[in-house]
Order: sequence, then C-alpha cells, then structure tokens
Amino acid sequence: MSQFPKDFLWGAATAAYQVEGAHDADGKGLSVWDVFSHLPGTTHEGTNGDVAADHYHRFKEDVALMAELGMTSYRFSISWPRVLPNGTGEVNEAGIKFYSDLIDELLRHNIRPMITLYHWDLPQALQDKFGGWAGREIVDAFDEYARLCYQRFGDRVDLWSTFNETIVFIGMGYFTGQHPPKLKDPKLGIQACHHVFLSNARAVKSFREMGIKGQIGFVNVLQPNDPISQEPEDIRAWEIAEGIYTHWLYDPVLKGEYPRDMLEMAQAAFGVPEFHPGDAELLKENIVDFIGLNYYKREMVARNDDVQGFDLNTSGQKGSGGGMGFKGLFKIVKNPNGVYTDWDWEIYPEGLTDAIGRIRHRYGEVPIYITENGLGAKDPIVDGAVLDQPRIDYLSEHIRAVGRAIEQGADVRGYYPWSFIDLLSWLNGYQKQYGFVYIDRENNLARKKKLSFEWYQKVIRSNGDEL
Ligand code: NOJ
Repeated sequence: MSQFPKDFLWGAATAAYQVEGAHDADGKGLSVWDVFSHLPGTTHEGTNGDVAADHYHRFKEDVALMAELGMTSYRFSISWPRVLPNGTGEVNEAGIKFYSDLIDELLRHNIRPMITLYHWDLPQALQDKFGGWAGREIVDAFDEYARLCYQRFGDRVDLWSTFNETIVFIGMGYFTGQHPPKLKDPKLGIQACHHVFLSNARAVKSFREMGIKGQIGFVNVLQPNDPISQEPEDIRAWEIAEGIYTHWLYDPVLKGEYPRDMLEMAQAAFGVPEFHPGDAELLKENIVDFIGLNYYKREMVARNDDVQGFDLNTSGQKGSGGGMGFKGLFKIVKNPNGVYTDWDWEIYPEGLTDAIGRIRHRYGEVPIYITENGLGAKDPIVDGAVLDQPRIDYLSEHIRAVGRAIEQGADVRGYYPWSFIDLLSWLNGYQKQYGFVYIDRENNLARKKKLSFEWYQKVIRSNGDEL
C-alpha cells in the first residue's frame, strides 16, 4: 500500500532563466541575470543562460518527454521581463503567448502547471529605475506583474507561488555579493527582504480579490540546521541560524509577522526593516495557502569566532553577538560524519522528515509541496548512456523520507524533483547536472533520457511504491 495519497502530484521543476534560453527573443527585456552573467568573473567559466536548454523553442518536445515520464504536474517560472520587458507598462504579447502555449500543451497531456512568479530574473529596467527589491516601488510593480499573470493564465492554472528561495536571492544579492545586484549591504538587504514579504502579501491579496480559483503559496529553502555540539555557545549559534534561515523567512508568510526576537535584533543593529503604516496589517491579512519546500541538505552550525559561513559582517560594523551578520553569531561547519556531494552538500534524507516536522511544530497543519529536491552531480556517461545511479539513490531515499513525514500526519501534496532536464546551475554553469533528461551540448542540445528517467517513471506509475 502506497504511503502517498491517491491524488499526490508527482512532478519536476525548472526555472525560466535556467531552462528557457532565448534571452532576447521576440521582444523580451533583459533581466538582472542576463546582465550579471555577462560581467567578467561572475559565473563558472563565464557561462550564462542565453541559450540554456532552449526550452523556449523546444517546449513541445520537452512536454512530450514530461508526459512520457508520467509527470502529473510541472513547476516552472515565468520570466517577468519576457512578459513585461520594462517591468511594468507595455505587455509583450509574444512572451504571454509562449507561456499560454506551454500551459495548453501541459494540459493537453494532463500535466498540471504550477507557476512560480519570481525565480530571480528581475527586469533589469526595475533594478535601474529604483534599485529593484531595495526600492519600495517594487511592491506595486510586482503586483502589476502578478495581476497580469493571473489575468492571462488564471483560467487554466490553479497552483501558484509568488517567490522562490528569498534567502538566496536576497542573501547572495545583498549580503555576500555573489548574485545580482552584487551588494554587500545588510541594511539594504533586510529592507529589500521586507519588500519581498510585502510584495508576496499584495500578490496574495490580488489573487483572492480577482477570484482566481486555486491556491497560492511561497517557496522557501527547507534547511534543517543542527548544532555541531551541545555546548551552550554552539546551541546559541544554532538558535540564531534557525532564526535567520527559518523563522525570518517563514513567519511573515505563514503567521503574517516577523519573529519578535529576530526583528528586535535586526532593528537594534541596523534600524530596519522600516515599516510604513499598513505594512503590518498587509502581512497579517494575507498569509499563504501553502508552503513550498526546497530541500537539498542540512547544515551544521557552530559558534563563530572567525567570521565565515553565512557571513553578513560586511558593513564594516563590529559585532557584539547581537544583530544579524555580526561576528560571533554562527558559522556553517562540515559534519565530520556526514556524506557530502561533490559540491559539499550533506546528503541527509532524514533531515527532510525532521524539517517537515519542525515546520508543523511551529506553524501547524499547513499544506506542503516539496517544490525541489535533487542531486547535483557530473553524471557518468558509459557508451553513450547517462548512468546517474547516484541520483536514483538520492531521490529514492528522499522520497522515503517524504513518505515517513506523511505517515506522521504531514499534509504533503506533491513532490517536484529538481530538475526535469539538465539546465543552467546559476554560478556553476552546466557542469552541475540535476535532470532526468540529459542535454548534449555538443550535439545541437539533443535530449537524451537518463537512467533516472526510467526509474522515476516507475515511481510515478506505482504512486511511490517502487523505489
Ligand atoms: C534552488 C533553486 O531554486 C534552483 O534554482 C537551483 O538551481 C537549485 N536550488 C540547485 O542549486
């Protein structure tokens, strides 16, 4: 007997910039990633998403493969500058048509679309105009974009999420400087993050006001942190890491307010987030319908005496142990007993069950979708066959972990491995593969099914019984 409900969604995920290519086709505007990835030294060997998997031109072939795989849902994102080249205002009908055709093609194959509105490819025009997420104007702009998408696609799409992994695009964009807009400014980062929460709340409000039939959620990294030892300094470091990675990102969308302790810390240290009248109410009145969880790894946390890990100490201010990002808060260390991927991510399936339990403990019974989970690896090719057995091992253990969470009572409604097809891995180029479908970059981007493709087909057919 399968642990998974009868209507459980077996999907796979991608994101626009990583898969579509066609970066300047048919009236698309530039995104911050189009610009950033062309700056020297920003990505692995200068790779970018100009062509990516060329899904924009080959989506029919790709949807046919999804159908062959047996997927019942597909999570993808819309490129904001493809539909609104300037971020607001004039609509690019060719861009709308692409997504409209993709949705129709999916539905023809009985694959339920799950749309992510924001997977990091902000229109460059809005970055230039008011500093992107750092400017409060973004809240109106995002609402305009969200409304356009609901209006054009809401008749056929009933699963939506507003944002993907805020900790990453804000953390790496505004704290560590590795993503656009390449800043190391925690104060601005915290305020930008506040604008993300407000934008989420406004977009949720519009979704309901417009009477879109369906559910709207928010996608976060699910990363259980564990203390490296039981010593009080490490426990305290771990509490702060949980406060930043989890409570800060989940509370505003699931409880409609910030975690009080962390808010006090941030405001004492940086004087932000700055609230305008109405902000608190907006957050409170528009919590999401579900939470999307992206799980890859756990991280071990230790006291920080030398400033590493998620180092936010970039403002030149000296830390006291109070305030986000100050010296002495915490650092991420390697688990001496852990098993790690080639990219140093700990493989820890139990963490998925545990972390779902922690979410339920703090937020109660919220509907959950596992919106990403996967193994990034250089897949072995033997006699032309892509033998990605490590991916099969990884995914099967994690699906078991989801099954255990369901047995414990969690309301998990779907599972979307990352990724459907090999695609651009942001800073890591095309060498870090995740897909069920391989792309031969030397042979006109020809698609080839990997070993994991056949395996996932069986998983889906058996509703998770045959792992
Ligand atoms: C999460 C992100 O959402 C996705 O874009 C990325 O490629 C994967 N993690 C793998 O790193």
